[in-house]
Amino acid sequence: MNTTTHLLYLGTAVCFVLGLHLMNSPATARRGNQLSAFGMAVAIALTVVVLIDDGTMTLTATVVLAIGVLVGSTAGLIAARRVKMTAMPQLVSLFNAVGGGAAALIAFGDALPGSTGRPTSTTLATFLDVLIGAVTFSGSLIAAGKLAGVVPGRPLTFAGGRLVNLLLGLTALTAGVLYTARGGLGALGILTGAALAVGVLATLPIGGADMPVVISLLNACTGTAVAMAGFVIGSTPLIIAGALVGAAGGILTKLMAVAMNRSLLNIVAGGFGTGDEQAVSATTAIGSVRAVTADDAALQLAYARKVVVVPGYGLAAAQAQHEVVELAQALAERGVDVSYGIHPVAGRMPGHMNVLLAEANAPYPLLKDLDEINPQFAATDVVLVVGANDVTNPAARRPGNAVSGMPILDVDKARSVIVVKRSLGHGYAGIDNELYTNPRTAMLFGDAKVVLTALITELQAYAVGR
Ligand code: TAP
Repeated sequence: MNTTTHLLYLGTAVCFVLGLHLMNSPATARRGNQLSAFGMAVAIALTVVVLIDDGTMTLTATVVLAIGVLVGSTAGLIAARRVKMTAMPQLVSLFNAVGGGAAALIAFGDALPGSTGRPTSTTLATFLDVLIGAVTFSGSLIAAGKLAGVVPGRPLTFAGGRLVNLLLGLTALTAGVLYTARGGLGALGILTGAALAVGVLATLPIGGADMPVVISLLNACTGTAVAMAGFVIGSTPLIIAGALVGAAGGILTKLMAVAMNRSLLNIVAGGFGTGDEQAVSATTAIGSVRAVTADDAALQLAYARKVVVVPGYGLAAAQAQHEVVELAQALAERGVDVSYGIHPVAGRMPGHMNVLLAEANAPYPLLKDLDEINPQFAATDVVLVVGANDVTNPAARRPGNAVSGMPILDVDKARSVIVVKRSLGHGYAGIDNELYTNPRTAMLFGDAKVVLTALITELQAYAVGR
């Protein structure tokens, strides 16, 4: 039984690793998700079998586990099926909170019957599990609240906040060290309370718009807490799954910070990005812009040889993914070479544009990443920028502003650019976009969904011959 169990656990770990690998490409991501979910289902079933074999499954335990599985699976399924694409970051954050909280509870529960006389390795894992799990739990709840608008998105600070947080952190560490050395539920209780408070106070000062990076960081913490929980109760699948989530979350956090040209310290220190909607304004400090009508833009697109569509956060906000794909298809039917230029941090979460376009069935091979599409702009007749702002701002090439050093899509190198957005309002970085005053750029003002629908109608009119 023991060897078979371990071999099967190893099999589930292989499913997790292969699943993560398959998530490298949108074409295989769905299969990757299914394979990982299958591995997790096998791991859960196997754990129940092991408990039954051990004789640890009492009637009460069976009922509690059955209720837990039923309630948890139903809530997860309903939430995942109903969530809107724009609300995905807050759902991920809620899942993070649940994961971190569950990991902390495992350690706490394990410590309950008698917290003294246990090996240091176990008490150390308990200390780290409760510390990281509790910080992740409360921090993720605040992050989800900020993104959902329940907690104000602006950075919330108060005088002496950092000092209070430092003191709370020191309290948690001291209580944890005491617990590791001597055991005692009192120390574990203080550690839990202080860690929960640290999670809240460390997340409140961070602007809502920085939340995706923070959520990714908290996700890495959840993984680490879960791995620690695995050490506490001696569960191989928990250790492996937790370590994978911890490592993947850590790498993703780093990649996001690099793509935004921000240091992780700068993000965690807080105070950047409000996350609140920008007021819609039609004024700018950068000079005059040229506006076009949908009719003019459609004509330009219809007679182009090569068009690149650059989607951004506004596409997600307008939920215009189906319209943009329909327009691209209509152009392709006219013989126009159409592709999509995808910036790694376009939108508000990793892979935001890929997920949106996949939902609308955009062909994967047409989705080109930054390195692939940038050399093609010089040979592009029209770039259609839809709700993207910061990721196209040429100011990034100069030092001294909020987007300096951020890799951008070189749309200004194309023969002409049409920008679809509602106004000259700023993007997430809060600065003017110099692209808009470029003589080659035309602004097509309006909500992305409305404007794209108008472009499709105009194109259809050309198709029947106007
Ligand atoms: P942004 O620079 O944020 O610009 C989005 C633009 O969409 C706005 O300027 C807005 O202009 C327009 N918009 C909003 N609603 C619209 C609608 N209904 N129809 C048409 N346009 C609409 O977006 P981006 O270019 O995608 O860049 C992403 C930014 O977010 C980067 O600065 C990045 O660093 C940051 N960020 C990204 C992530 C991840 S992981 N993706 C995480 C945190 C932060 P109007 O108001 O004029 O319409």
